[in-house]
Amino acid sequence: KPKAQRSRKAPRRKVVVTAGPTREYVDPVRYLSNESSGKQGFAIAAACAARGDEVVLIAGPVHQETPKGVRRIDVMSAREMLAEVRLHFGRADALYMAAAVADWRPKRRLSGKWRKKDDGTDTASIDLVKNPDVLATVAKSKGERMVVGFALETGDGERRALAKLRRKNADYIVLNDDSALGSDRNTVTILGADGSSKKLTNKSKAAVAKVLAALDRH
Ligand code: CTP
Ligand code: CA
Repeated sequence: KPKAQRSRKAPRRKVVVTAGPTREYVDPVRYLSNESSGKQGFAIAAACAARGDEVVLIAGPVHQETPKGVRRIDVMSAREMLAEVRLHFGRADALYMAAAVADWRPKRRLSGKWRKKDDGTDTASIDLVKNPDVLATVAKSKGERMVVGFALETGDGERRALAKLRRKNADYIVLNDDSALGSDRNTVTILGADGSSKKLTNKSKAAVAKVLAALDRH
């Protein structure tokens, strides 16, 4: 009975959550990707649904169960993710961009398997092109809607994360420490465009998700 927690008159918040990695294919069986498990994004979707939000979860390839009451849309590439986010953020109130979008994709996707040549060369290279920045693209015209980004940094994390927040026009950026990948526990700092900073130390991803689900634009 998720709605019991809210006033009956309050309109249901519509949220879009992205989760997991994207996959950028080189040929039909090979791709560029990353180790994102999708856990934090799925936990956010679950926490939002539990408080009565209408949730669309746009997920890269992950092994996670769809949380109850959540509409899930599976995607592979960054460009597919952008298309779905555009479509659903249009009528939403908030975006949680927890996906680990691949920064690059192969310039060409071969239609057949990439084969070695017997010409004595021992090196090869793949031309990469930059993927669209999903968060920056849709946050540009976000208006009154809340946009939450995520970052995992090595060295000088807060400064870098704040620079991303400004560059991408987000309301918050959730800075993960690097124990987060694949783990069930998480230490994060939630940095706000309003200058706020809130650190959650060694919490379960569910506990972090609950705090994030309760965020408001200031
Ligand atoms: N992001 C995105 N689209 C991309 C890359 C990143 O929407 N092509 C989003 C991520 O989902 C995350 C935020 O931007 O919410 C920050 O991602 P991060 O990888 O830390 O930032 P980048 O801009 O890719 O910078 P870096 O070179 O440090 O990876
Ligand atoms: Ca990146």
